[in-house]
Amino acid sequence: MHPPTKDRDCTSMCHSDTKVRSSKFPKNHPLVTVDLGTKPNETCLSCHDDWSTKHKKKFTHSAIEQMTCLGCHSPHGSDSPRMLRTPVNEGELCLTCHSDKDNWKTDSKIKEHKIIHQKKGCVNCHDPHSSNIKSLLLREGNKLCLECHNQGVKTADGRTLKAFSQELAKGRTIHPPVEDDCQGCHQPHSSTFKKLLKDEFGDNYSEFSEKQFGLCFTCHSSELVTVAKTSSATEFRNGEFNLHNFHVAGTPKNRGCGTCHEVHSSKNPRLIKDHMPYKDYRLPQVYEKTADGGSCVTACHGLKVYDRKKPFTNSKGR
Ligand code: HEC
Ligand code: HEC
Ligand code: HEC
Ligand code: HEC
Ligand code: HEC
Ligand code: HEC
Ligand code: HEC
Ligand code: HEC
Repeated sequence: MHPPTKDRDCTSMCHSDTKVRSSKFPKNHPLVTVDLGTKPNETCLSCHDDWSTKHKKKFTHSAIEQMTCLGCHSPHGSDSPRMLRTPVNEGELCLTCHSDKDNWKTDSKIKEHKIIHQKKGCVNCHDPHSSNIKSLLLREGNKLCLECHNQGVKTADGRTLKAFSQELAKGRTIHPPVEDDCQGCHQPHSSTFKKLLKDEFGDNYSEFSEKQFGLCFTCHSSELVTVAKTSSATEFRNGEFNLHNFHVAGTPKNRGCGTCHEVHSSKNPRLIKDHMPYKDYRLPQVYEKTADGGSCVTACHGLKVYDRKKPFTNSKGR
C-alpha cells in the first residue's frame, strides 16, 4: 500500500476541496489538487521531490511523459511490489505495452532469449524509468551480457553454456567484437537464427554460399573466400593460392568457418580451434603461425605448410 493511502493522508497533496476538476476522472470523483489530465506526474513529484535529480539522465522512458507514472503504478496500492499495476517479473508489466516483444508466440520460427520471461524479465537489462545509455539499458557494451554470461548459465533444457570469464581470460586471442559489444552478432530479445544470432552462421559440411555465412560477412569481405587467387584478400594463402577459397568453396564437401575458427576466443592465434569438429567428435588439430604463413596437422591431413612469400610445395595426398 502507498504510505499516504495507508496513513489516510488523502488531502495534503493529492485530493483537496479546492475544486480542481480532473479531465481524467468522472464528474463524481473526489477532487484533486492538480489536474491529473494535464499534469499528472506533478502530484507524484510533489512528494517524490528527489525524483527529478535521481533521474536527470540522458534518456527518459517515453511511457513517463506519454502515459504518466500511472501507466505502470497504481496510485493507492497494488497486489504487486512497488505498487505496480502488473508484476514486473517475467516481463509481464512491460509486455502490456510492448507486446511486439512476444512475437515468438505467434511466429514459430522465432526463438526467444528466455531470460526476458525469467526472474525480473525486462528489467534484467532495462531501467524502467531512465538511463544514460541508449535504449534505457542498465550497462554498456558487453558488460550487459557478461552480468550473467561471465558464469556458465544453465538453460531450461539442462545445458550449461560457455562461461565468458574463461573465454575472455588473459593470454587468449579474443575476437575484437566480443570484447566490444556482443550485439555485433547477437540479438538481445529473439531471433529467427540459432543462438539469437543476427544473421546466418551455417553448418560445417555443406555447399558454400555467402548467405550461409552472412553473419561473418557483415564485417569481413566475402572476397577472403570467393577469389581463387589473391595477394591481398586474405593471409591464408600459399603464394597467391587462396586457402580459404580452397577449403571453404573449393570442393562439394565444404568446410564451414567453424571447422577451423572459434567465434569468441581461442588459445591459438587467428582464433584457430585446437580441435576439428566432425559429427559428435572433436578430432585433434595443431596449428602454428609463422611470420609469413603457417602450418597445420589435422585429422584431415598430415603436416601441410603455407607461405605467402615463398610458396611451399606440399606432398600430394594426405
Ligand atoms: C503525499 C506524498 C506522496 C505522494 C503525493 C506520492 N507518494 Fe509515492 N510514496 C510516498 C511515501 C512517503 C513513500 C514511501 C517512501 C519512499 O519510498 O520514498 C512512497 C513510495 C512510493 C513508491 C514505492 C513503493 C514501494 O513499495 O517501495 C512508489 C512506486 C510510489 N510512491 C509511487 C507514487 C506515484 C506513482 C505517485 C503519484 C500517483 C506518488 N507516489 C505520489 C509519498 C507520496
Ligand atoms: C514503464 C513503467 C513505469 C513507469 C511509467 C514508472 N515506473 Fe516507477 N517503477 C517501475 C518499476 C518496474 C519499478 C520497480 C523496479 C525494480 O523493482 O527493479 C518501479 C519503481 C519505482 C519506485 C521505487 C524504487 C525507486 O526507483 O525509487 C518509485 C518511487 C517509482 N517507481 C516512482 C515512479 C514515479 C514517480 C513515476 C512517474 C514519474 C514512475 N515511477 C513511472 C515502473 C515504472
Ligand atoms: C504504459 C505503456 C508502457 C509500458 C507499461 C512500458 N512501456 Fe516502454 N515504451 C512505451 C512507449 C510509448 C515508448 C516509446 C515508443 C516506442 O519506442 O515504442 C516506450 C519505449 C521503450 C523503450 C525504447 C526506449 C528508447 O530510447 O529507444 C524501451 C527500452 C522500453 N520502452 C522498455 C520498457 C520496459 C523495460 C518496460 C517495463 C518496465 C516498459 N517499457 C513498459 C510505453 C510503455
Ligand atoms: C538480455 C537483455 C535484455 C532483456 C532481458 C530485454 N532487453 Fe530490450 N533491449 C536490449 C538491448 C541490448 C537493446 C538495444 C537493441 C539495439 O540497440 O538494437 C534493447 C532494446 C529494446 C527496445 C527498443 C528497440 C526495440 O527493439 O524495440 C525496447 C522497446 C525493448 N528493448 C523492450 C524490452 C522489453 C519489453 C523486454 C521484456 C519483454 C526487454 N526489452 C528485455 C536488451 C534486453
Ligand atoms: C539476467 C541474465 C542474462 C543476461 C543479462 C543475458 N543473458 Fe543470455 N541467457 C540467460 C539465460 C538464463 C539463458 C538460458 C535460457 C534458456 O534457454 O533457458 C541465456 C541464453 C542465451 C543464449 C542462447 C544459448 C543457447 O544455446 O540456447 C545466447 C546466445 C545468449 N543468452 C546471449 C546473450 C547476450 C548476447 C546477452 C546480452 C545482450 C545476454 N545473453 C544477456 C541469461 C542472461
Ligand atoms: C563475431 C560474432 C559474435 C560475437 C561478437 C559474440 N558471439 Fe556469441 N556466438 C556467436 C556464434 C556464431 C555462436 C554459435 C556458435 C556455434 O554454434 O558454434 C555463438 C554462441 C553463443 C552462446 C551459446 C554458447 C553455448 O555454450 O552454446 C552464447 C551464450 C553466446 N554466444 C554469448 C555471447 C556473449 C555473452 C557475447 C559477448 C561477450 C558474444 N556471444 C559475442 C557469435 C558471436
Ligand atoms: C561485428 C563485426 C564482426 C563480425 C560479425 C565478425 N567479425 Fe571477425 N573480426 C572483426 C574485427 C574488427 C576483427 C579484427 C580486424 C580484422 O582482422 O579484420 C576480426 C578478426 C577476425 C579474425 C582474425 C583474428 C586474429 O586474431 O587476427 C578471424 C579469424 C575472424 N575475425 C573470424 C570471423 C568469423 C569466423 C566470423 C563469423 C562467425 C566473424 N569473424 C564475424 C569483426 C567481426
Ligand atoms: C581450413 C581452415 C579454415 C577455414 C575453414 C576458415 N578459415 Fe579463416 N583462417 C584460417 C587460417 C589458418 C587463418 C590465418 C591466416 C594467417 O594469418 O596466416 C585464417 C584467417 C582468417 C581471418 C583473418 C584475415 C585473413 O583472411 O587472413 C579471417 C577474418 C577469417 N579467417 C575468416 C574466416 C571465415 C569468415 C571463414 C568461413 C567463411 C573462415 N575463415 C574459414 C583457416 C580457416
